[in-house]
Amino acid sequence: MPSAMNAAAQRVQAAFRKGTAIPSFNIPYHAMMAPVIRALRDTRTVGMIAVARLEWTKFEAGSPEAIRDLYGTLRDPRLTLLHLDHCPVIDEDLCRVDFMEVLTRAVKAGYDSVMVDASRLDLAGNIAATRQVVAMAHEAGVPVEGELGAVLGHEAGPLPPYEELFASGRGFTDAEEAARFVAETGADWLSVAVGNVHGAITAARREAKVAARLDLDQLTRLRAAAGIPLVLHGGTGIRREYLQEAIRRGIAKVNIATAIRQPYEALRQSDPEGAGEAVYRSAIEQLETELGVAGNAALLPATC
Ligand code: 13P
Repeated sequence: MPSAMNAAAQRVQAAFRKGTAIPSFNIPYHAMMAPVIRALRDTRTVGMIAVARLEWTKFEAGSPEAIRDLYGTLRDPRLTLLHLDHCPVIDEDLCRVDFMEVLTRAVKAGYDSVMVDASRLDLAGNIAATRQVVAMAHEAGVPVEGELGAVLGHEAGPLPPYEELFASGRGFTDAEEAARFVAETGADWLSVAVGNVHGAITAARREAKVAARLDLDQLTRLRAAAGIPLVLHGGTGIRREYLQEAIRRGIAKVNIATAIRQPYEALRQSDPEGAGEAVYRSAIEQLETELGVAGNAALLPATC
């Protein structure tokens, strides 16, 4: 935990304690940010505006600084936070990334929280890389999310059949490893793999996602072992009963990308205004119906 907890750290901790979650919306196109913030405001929900490295290398986010600048003009300090999502150590194309350069830039740019994803390394490598980021970010009071286990979906090529993946538990986060990871890295939040998968970003990116399930018993074990707020990536398309139970069991932050990106991409050329409305409607649906976290601001005061 950083010595002085910033607002992002405080609010995720409060969500964890109270059995609710903070939604984190990815912004691969600048025009998606305003409707997401409008949805948060209209539902009085604390939420994150997030950008991942692949959204400025493969989509149109530009850079962490470009997103920060736009966020500065749209933010609602009572409700919104700025998060740097997935900075991989080895990326989805299996190339090494100068992750310290990217993450140091993000902290300097004023991001409220950052994620280092060293999950493609072995456990010792993941711990070493995450610990390095924690040391840098905590100097600035910025909380760090790490990832343990394999949340598939961003890689090129098709996913293994989902039911096979779920039944085998392949890549699921292990509880003993989670305890060690938290103790040795000092990470603030842990992204876990319990049946969740990312929406595709390559050839299959327009296809509907599988209706994922979650291993809720494993999630309970992970909460006990890790003892810190857990994060669920691949938030789009998880069956609602699993998603909402996972939030009650320790998921304090849920990442949503595909659910707002696909409706935006379907309309952005032909009807840019309609594309923004589609993002707004989808964000509202996620908050109110899928996650059931609309109005969480009442539970998560800015200083708690
Ligand atoms: P989805 O695309 O499945 O919503 O996942 C988003 C995510 O986890 C971004 O980090």
